[in-house]
Amino acid sequence: MEKKQIDWSNIGFGYMQTEKRYVSNYKNGAWDDGVLTEDANIVLNECAGVLQYAQTVFEGLKAYTAEDGRIVMFRPDLNAERMMNSAKRLEMPPFPAERFLDAVKKVVKANEAYVPPYGSGASLYIRPYMFGSNPVIGVKPADEYQFRAFTTPVGPYFKGGAKPLTIKVSDFDRAAPHGTGNIKAGLNYAMSLHAIVTAHEEGYAENMYLDPGTRTKVEETGGANFLFVTKDNKVVTPKSDSILPSITRRSLVYVAQHYLGLEVEEREVLFSEVKDFAECGLCGTAAVISPVGKIVDHGNEICFPSGMDEMGPTIKKLYDTLTGIQMGHLEAPEGWVVEV
Ligand code: PLP
Ligand code: COI
Repeated sequence: MEKKQIDWSNIGFGYMQTEKRYVSNYKNGAWDDGVLTEDANIVLNECAGVLQYAQTVFEGLKAYTAEDGRIVMFRPDLNAERMMNSAKRLEMPPFPAERFLDAVKKVVKANEAYVPPYGSGASLYIRPYMFGSNPVIGVKPADEYQFRAFTTPVGPYFKGGAKPLTIKVSDFDRAAPHGTGNIKAGLNYAMSLHAIVTAHEEGYAENMYLDPGTRTKVEETGGANFLFVTKDNKVVTPKSDSILPSITRRSLVYVAQHYLGLEVEEREVLFSEVKDFAECGLCGTAAVISPVGKIVDHGNEICFPSGMDEMGPTIKKLYDTLTGIQMGHLEAPEGWVVEV
């Protein structure tokens, strides 16, 4: 299999159409067998549930070339499980976890020529998603659904790679108390578009959202969870019912405790204590761990001691250990690295 001629080290986080995608349809109460297709377009009825009432959920995970040359994915079982939870919350029929794993493996294999080589810093992003496909006009769930998974080669989510980011405290909320902030539903991202455009126009890389109920606690950004490091080297990460349960964050908590011997606190984090932390990072599949150097809250600047030039020392250790596990330099916990 010949790799595509792509300048792997210089691609950003964008959509590049690859050859095959996986499709399965749900009708009369059952999912069909699913196929790979070359057709990247979808034809839908004008009244499809997804178009009218945003009935859609998705996932994001990466396939990449490990040091030994194998193509692997990181903890895809957790994406499968989270997508089932997201679907249930939006009254959609969950796509079974074993089908999900089979679909993502098939779509990566079919697009192997687009899996970036080891050491390029790029990966093949996999976007599984599903949506209500039949006409719905009264407010109710659709009866028919489509699951799809496509791939696109990607580089770093934030321009500048590992350079510390400046973010702002948003005036908007991305989730509601008891809402859908803890699932990966398209509607949460539609909610965040005005906030992200506003932040970018003002020169910020991302938003820090506070809890929608009291606006006193740290939640997450539009596409990643927060990790903080205290001055006495504890890792602190916000716990909230309205943030996405990030697979990267859950993995980093384990890495901090079991590989680095660090103390970890998963708890409510008041915004008022953020100024006392030594380091801050954003973690997610796309973000990996992106360091934050500065947070601006209505003109008041919080500048972390780790500065604007490089990652703080503990975030760097977490980053090196996590990526070491992913790439195969370090032994992975059972089941974390799955061969395609
Ligand atoms: N939070 C939000 C809102 C996200 O969109 C993502 C991306 O998936 C994350 C956090 C990070 O989650 P994960 O580490 O599972 O990719
Ligand atoms: C991911 O990290 O996979 C996501 O889905 C985040 C998205 C904002 C690109």
